[in-house]
Amino acid sequence: MPIPLITKGITEGLSSIPHIYTVLKFAPWLLLIVALKYYFGGARNGSERLMHSKVVMVTGGTSGIGASVVYELASRGAQVILLTQQSQSDIFLIDYIEDLRKSTGNQLIYAEQVDLSSLHSIRTFATKWIDNVPPRRLDMLVFCATTASPNSSKRKVTVDGIDEEWQVNYLANFHLLSILSPALRVQPPHRDVRIIMTTCSSYIAAPKLDFSQLDSHTIPPNKPTANSRTTTKQSRKPASTPRPKPKPNRTRNPQTPKSLFALSKLSLMIFANSFQKHLNAFKRPDGQPPSTRVILVDPGYSRTPGTRRWLTCGSLWGLLLYLLTWPLWWLVLKSPPQGAQSILYAAMEARFGRGEGGWMIKECREVDFARTEITDDGVGKQLWELSERQIEAMEKEGAVKRALAKKEKEEEEQMGRSSKAASGSKSASSGGVKEQTAGSRRSRRGNGNKS
Ligand SMILES: NC(=O)c1ccc[n+]([C@@H]2O[C@H](COP(=O)([O-])OP(=O)(O)OC[C@H]3O[C@@H](n4cnc5c(N)ncnc54)[C@H](OP(=O)(O)O)[C@@H]3O)[C@@H](O)[C@H]2O)c1
Repeated sequence: MPIPLITKGITEGLSSIPHIYTVLKFAPWLLLIVALKYYFGGARNGSERLMHSKVVMVTGGTSGIGASVVYELASRGAQVILLTQQSQSDIFLIDYIEDLRKSTGNQLIYAEQVDLSSLHSIRTFATKWIDNVPPRRLDMLVFCATTASPNSSKRKVTVDGIDEEWQVNYLANFHLLSILSPALRVQPPHRDVRIIMTTCSSYIAAPKLDFSQLDSHTIPPNKPTANSRTTTKQSRKPASTPRPKPKPNRTRNPQTPKSLFALSKLSLMIFANSFQKHLNAFKRPDGQPPSTRVILVDPGYSRTPGTRRWLTCGSLWGLLLYLLTWPLWWLVLKSPPQGAQSILYAAMEARFGRGEGGWMIKECREVDFARTEITDDGVGKQLWELSERQIEAMEKEGAVKRALAKKEKEEEEQMGRSSKAASGSKSASSGGVKEQTAGSRRSRRGNGNKS
């Protein structure tokens, strides 16, 4: 079709081709859109790695970029363990895993409940994992879970009483890796273990870490701070005092800066560097070099549920505006599979299986950190200590709360049993006539006597 038209255009002149001037008018715009789409789509991963038999743990693997990473790794045969906030019996999670197993042809996809907004949930899973004898195989950890508060005046606080952005984006990863650290160190030396943490370019604009303020920024004022260590004060109420069930609530901490998301990402990067150094400093009993490498990845801005929530400010008007301007977002934002490319590159590129680790990847190539404190040992040590203190304080308080709730439940059950027993003995003393249940031996005998 185009060849006869082109021939006609050459031999008889351009005007002989129908609608040629309209086509010529719009063609440059179309080319521009294609070029922009290609540019904003970002780099593509060109590395491959055999993933059969590799055990990969993924947080945030149920949505957005994480879901694309899971699909790609599972398609290549990896055994995937999704760490999700929902329980394994959640109907949507079951459907999701079944679909994934079908579409990838891989049955080795499982889920474990790990709610990153609960330190107890993380500890329960991680201790179960490291308690396994012999130690379980672990080839890769991909951290894609994230949360971004679309409205800074309605911030969420976790069950542990910590700002949700700080906990899910940073502290939970610190907690999980701190407990799993022995499981990483016992992996055989020939195993190429990779820890991939996703960050965001917003870290570049994050304010400087102020360790004297970090507690008050991340823990609402009614909570004891990690530095004060007054963890059990609030919980020492009499057991009979009714307490509300712990659940995430929306509160506004006046001290929380708007940039806490960026701060949590910067902290994650500082921790990634410190954790790599911690792993490298470990002397293996077999004298072999460490086999675990930490890689930070910035996937680039993508059209994921998280981005949509953030762009729409979590409001219906925002959603309407987003839908009206959708062509713009379609053009300038990557799709989730495009966002996954740099993570897949970090997971599969052969050279990341050697060396000291601690790299940063963006657009499928290694880049430098834009902030000097990421590689600063002093800052890393201070942040590590503060994180440990926060976790210790909040875990202690959580343990006391759970113990009190358990005691309260037992007391209620005990009271229920004794009131039942009391009403039983009362009815026995008032004539000893037991209510006859239809069909019971007593009622049948009663009926028999009547007849
Ligand atoms: N999208 C972007 O434009 C962009 C840009 C730069 C960097 N990044 C980074 O890329 C990563 C992935 O981002 P995304 O946009 O794909 O994320 P997303 O679509 O918002 O998905 C977030 C994931 O985190 C999970 N999650 C949230 N809270 C959790 C909790 N308490 N416990 C366990 N899991 C929890 C969610 O689980 P549910 O499905 O159960 O809610 C979901 O799977 C993040 O680290 C993000 O910072 C993204």
